[in-house]
Amino acid sequence: MIREIVTYPNKILKQKSTKVENFDQELHLLLDDMYETMMAKNGIGLAAIQVAVPINVLIINLPNEDDKQEKEDLIEVINPTILERRGSTLYTEGCLSVPEYYEDVERAEWIKISYYTREGVEIIKECDGLLAIAFQHEMDHLKGELFIEKLSFLKRKKFEKEWKKKIKGKK
Ligand code: CO
Repeated sequence: MIREIVTYPNKILKQKSTKVENFDQELHLLLDDMYETMMAKNGIGLAAIQVAVPINVLIINLPNEDDKQEKEDLIEVINPTILERRGSTLYTEGCLSVPEYYEDVERAEWIKISYYTREGVEIIKECDGLLAIAFQHEMDHLKGELFIEKLSFLKRKKFEKEWKKKIKGKK
């Protein structure tokens, strides 16, 4: 089932997500719905809080070398922790909760993370490039943070002005 995506400035997005304790049917249904919702909106990542569920769950599905987004490349991430980070990289990010806005954000270039699968199996993974960026972006959602909070003062001011105009136009 496609769920509604919460968009900025809805305060739900500022909520801190909590640890998943039960790897049950309800969690699996949420993960399936999140995948459907993300694909319907042409996203490459989605955190549970973006569909108003404040638990430590996110999904990432990057396009492969042929630029195809295959379900076999879907990564389901429960209770993630960053164990190590190195370097820094700049990438133009976007977010389904801040639709049609893109800006450069600085992130660690390489990370080592721990997370759990939908069955509750722990995975330790090292990654870099777009995958590392996506992990960091989605994990910020779990802390109640959006990528626009990383912008410089002036860029943020400009964004707020444009965003207000955009929201007004839609009403
Ligand atoms: Co996002």
